[in-house]
Amino acid sequence: MAKSSQATWGGRFSAGPAELMLTFSESVSFDRRLAPFDIQGSKAHSAMLAHVGIISTKERDAIHRGLDAILAEIEAGKFTWDTKLEDVHMNIEQALTQRVPEAAKLHTARSRNDQVATDMRLFFKHACRLLAEKVLNAERTILSVAEDNQDVLVPGYTHLQRAQPVFVAHHLFAYLEMLERDRARFLEVAEHANWCPLGAGAIAGTTLPIDREFTAKELGFVDTKGRPQVTQNSMDTVADRDLFIEFAHACALFGVHASRIAEDLILWASAEFNFIDLPDTFCTGSSLMPQKKNPDSCELLRGKSARLQGNLHTLLTLVKGLPLTYNRDLQEDKPPVFDSFDQAGLCADVIAGTFAGITMDRASCAAAVKDPALLATDLADYLVNKGVPFREAHHAVGAVVRVAEKMGVRLNELPFEEVKRIHAGFGPDWVDVFDLNRALSMRKGTGMPGPAQVKKQFERWKKLLA
Ligand code: ARG
Repeated sequence: MAKSSQATWGGRFSAGPAELMLTFSESVSFDRRLAPFDIQGSKAHSAMLAHVGIISTKERDAIHRGLDAILAEIEAGKFTWDTKLEDVHMNIEQALTQRVPEAAKLHTARSRNDQVATDMRLFFKHACRLLAEKVLNAERTILSVAEDNQDVLVPGYTHLQRAQPVFVAHHLFAYLEMLERDRARFLEVAEHANWCPLGAGAIAGTTLPIDREFTAKELGFVDTKGRPQVTQNSMDTVADRDLFIEFAHACALFGVHASRIAEDLILWASAEFNFIDLPDTFCTGSSLMPQKKNPDSCELLRGKSARLQGNLHTLLTLVKGLPLTYNRDLQEDKPPVFDSFDQAGLCADVIAGTFAGITMDRASCAAAVKDPALLATDLADYLVNKGVPFREAHHAVGAVVRVAEKMGVRLNELPFEEVKRIHAGFGPDWVDVFDLNRALSMRKGTGMPGPAQVKKQFERWKKLLA
């Protein structure tokens, strides 16, 4: 059963790992996507080794040429990955050493512990920027739906009960606020990733005279002024998985936002609301009921958010109670991260795709927003303007609503005498309150849904998302 000694660490072993152990412990099936970052890291590390004179520039160049050739092979799908070599790091190093004898010096002053931490930090910088771009694209699509429907009003909801009228643009801008926070969060995580682990070694650095700052600069782990940023404690460097958790958290929270947006769309697309029509291209039919058009992209956005939360939970549990520093458990840190990256990216693309094909049913929106009861609060404000304390005004308008219900008429259809009887503060101009345009235009303050504010927000978002 036992295989021959493992080439990279087999020196002290008399028997290689069992077949089952190889299957159990390999990670190359999923960490090989780190190859470009691993090679980038190895090139920088060997450049540093040459810089401080541990290897010659000739050796460095041979290593670089070999790594470039391997990367080209990997990208062309021609590289043979071997699970017996455990992970991406050893696969690449072995292939390199077979071709370039000088590569036997590559792993000087380096451990897979600081190597994998470096690969992942490079990955996070890349992944966060990509996700930020995808979220930006989704935001732009939502903004264009708002632009196409600038004059459309819908009821805003609390408790899923019609509450107060708003421009649909105002509702869509709320999505932009959520997504813009997500985008900023991804960029923040990218900043947190911007510290170079190489040099921490396995746990306690190295006795060799390496130059960590040189490597950091080579890899772009620098601040805005170009100064190198290196991690400050070798033990923390190889034990720390905060970034994984932060990244998964950013993805999970984005997923929660996507899910809430999706739920609105599902409701709006139902016959009961009929505010929107979703694009056929992001819906599916029923195998049994021919009339059905199901909002599957939105339902999956809702579903994927569970998965994104699960990944965060996996990582938190993985790290909890783990003694310092590196433990092999930590190899399990990658599948949830990669899954969150892939799925969050898909979610952002699907939000964009779905919104790009949305059409609003203006008639249904207009009908829904016409209910004068949505302006009951404005009626209370009317009394407040006449000096009535708000609590008293609220109570009086409540009575107006009750009487209208009893008489079976809409709020604005009540005879003035009835209204006057309820509160002496009501004057004959009380019905003016139910003019929707007037009601909206009175909402002037920052963040309110009045037309002047919505216009301002359009300008703000157009600038922000340009
Ligand atoms: N594949 C390993 C991981 O992802 C790399 C680090 C291995 N380190 C070790 N000491 N065995 O965690």
